[in-house]
Amino acid sequence: MFAFVFIVCALVQLSNQEAVEELINNYLKLIAPIKSDCLKESGADEDTIVEALKMGDHPTDHNSKCFYKCFFRKYNLINDSDEIQEEIIKKYIGVPDKNDVDEIHKKCASLRGSDACDTSDKICKCVLQESIIVLTK
Ligand SMILES: *[C@@H]1O[C@H](CO)[C@@H](O)[C@H](O)[C@H]1NC(C)=O
Repeated sequence: MFAFVFIVCALVQLSNQEAVEELINNYLKLIAPIKSDCLKESGADEDTIVEALKMGDHPTDHNSKCFYKCFFRKYNLINDSDEIQEEIIKKYIGVPDKNDVDEIHKKCASLRGSDACDTSDKICKCVLQESIIVLTK
């Protein structure tokens, strides 16, 4: 019985792990087409961005934050007046349950930082980390 419970837990953990890996892979895919433009525009370091993302995180330097602003701009998540387009953000929250999407949206889309780079980074990181929490709960 004990062994059975252990095996079930191990399987659940594995599938959680796979869900997180898939989430992060989807982020990497989303970033791929805009990466070279946005690295150039922001002056961010590619390895720093990618290594952090693989750990489910964002780097904290300002250039990296501006990389995420560029990313938001490319996907129209922030407009030319640096206004976050909160409704569009919902489309990019990659968890299966709609209630979870709403919760994450409510928690993250209204965050604001010291400038457009900081704001984009805060929202993007919040969505990433809250999604990981949902997928591993
Ligand atoms: C940016 O978005 C805000 C609010 O969503 C809107 O009021 C503003 O007109 C938009 N600016 C541009 C340049 O599209």
